[in-house]
Amino acid sequence: MQKSDLLEKLQQIVGKEMVTTSAAELYCYSCDASQVRGMPDIVVRPVSTEQVSRIVRLAYDNGIPVTPRGAGTGLAGGSVPIEGGIVVDMSSMNRLLEMDLDNLQVVVEPGIVQEKLNEALEPYGFFFPPDPGSSAMCTLGGLIANNGSGMRSVKYGTTRNYVLGLEVVLADGTVINTGSKTTKSVAGYSLTDLFVGSEGTLGVITGAVLKVRALPKERSVLLASFENPELAGKAVVKVLSSGMIPSACEILDRNIIEAINTYDPNIGLPRAGAILLFEVDGTENTVREGIEMIKEACSSLASSIRAASDKKERDEIWAARRLVGAAVSRLDPLRTRVYVGEDIGVPIKELPGMLHKVSEISKEFSMPIMTYGHIGDGNLHTGMCIDVLDEKEWDKLNMAADKIHRTAIEVGGTVTAEHGVGSARAEYMGLELGKGLDVMILIKKALDPKGILNPGKMGV
Ligand code: LAC
Ligand code: ZN
Repeated sequence: MQKSDLLEKLQQIVGKEMVTTSAAELYCYSCDASQVRGMPDIVVRPVSTEQVSRIVRLAYDNGIPVTPRGAGTGLAGGSVPIEGGIVVDMSSMNRLLEMDLDNLQVVVEPGIVQEKLNEALEPYGFFFPPDPGSSAMCTLGGLIANNGSGMRSVKYGTTRNYVLGLEVVLADGTVINTGSKTTKSVAGYSLTDLFVGSEGTLGVITGAVLKVRALPKERSVLLASFENPELAGKAVVKVLSSGMIPSACEILDRNIIEAINTYDPNIGLPRAGAILLFEVDGTENTVREGIEMIKEACSSLASSIRAASDKKERDEIWAARRLVGAAVSRLDPLRTRVYVGEDIGVPIKELPGMLHKVSEISKEFSMPIMTYGHIGDGNLHTGMCIDVLDEKEWDKLNMAADKIHRTAIEVGGTVTAEHGVGSARAEYMGLELGKGLDVMILIKKALDPKGILNPGKMGV
């Protein structure tokens, strides 16, 4: 199909204003927050499920790639149209359709920004727990498509645990609803779970029924300092085995501490080989008890432990933690943070060993690695900054990242615990999933026989 015909047909579906082929606008859709790049031929901004269905049907009839996109905050190229075609920008479908709080659920369109949902829920005393670093920007649709998580998943689980049902447009434009409004259902295969985390390769998410939770009454933050990250890893295993499940359990290594203190000197994190940030939430009593349990579990390993003094300090610590990804660039203005090899997950018992291996890999490739992340989930962000104009630095980065990925798989872990596969990590799917990848390919063929949905992603 000629591009001019495609433009005309899409304009008939969504109106002239909601389609663009302007080079400047297409450029904005050619990347996410990773290093993956791909230029779309055309961008369309639907406002209804019916429009999405007609767009996808048109693409299906003509064999044109369709890449759905939320806010483009992904870190693996998931929303980058690496084979061109149509990008479907879902951010205009951003209505909160229903607040069914007696049923602890809301019905949403996919373009709502995560934080906006929480702002709407807060006055009623509820919240939507998945809390990625990008919560001020990322959309719920992107979060669902990626099964994102973030800082609260150690206690509250990942996005998957909050999706009761989905509305999905399939490759031929058919609209289906999965799941139900009940908290339990065993009717049929869990199609909801199939679409959550499928990164737009199986269908376009146009609506969701999400669980919400009552806001906890109290929160308290504890900072525990350690001589090195391995000791911090051991402490995490001890805390979690004690039966205490914090609402956040984050690690910051020496470089990350320095980056945060450079970024905002008011924060003044203790200088140490590593810090664990714990948050406990609940009632006054459970919080007090939880803090005591964490102190007890860490006491023989930590060099110092202190509580954040007040809400102000607590908020500042979390605000700084959210900015870590960007703040690391402050350490050396000539280097840029590159999101490669930055999202491994390992079984928690393997944490001390994995942290040690990361420091060995850093030495082996003379590549400084700054580690932070959701250590309570076994999820480590091993951040690397390079001079992006230096090809040798890219080589070193890629070799270090490859070794980090392979080591994580060797110890029974994963190459991506929350950022997604996209195209950045597609090459590891066979190694990590084995024959499971063949099943994924069969599912992909069954649901998307022409291979138009987000092609080139996830190893399918
Ligand atoms: C974070 C993002 C990078 O944890 O996942 O900050
Ligand atoms: Zn993270």
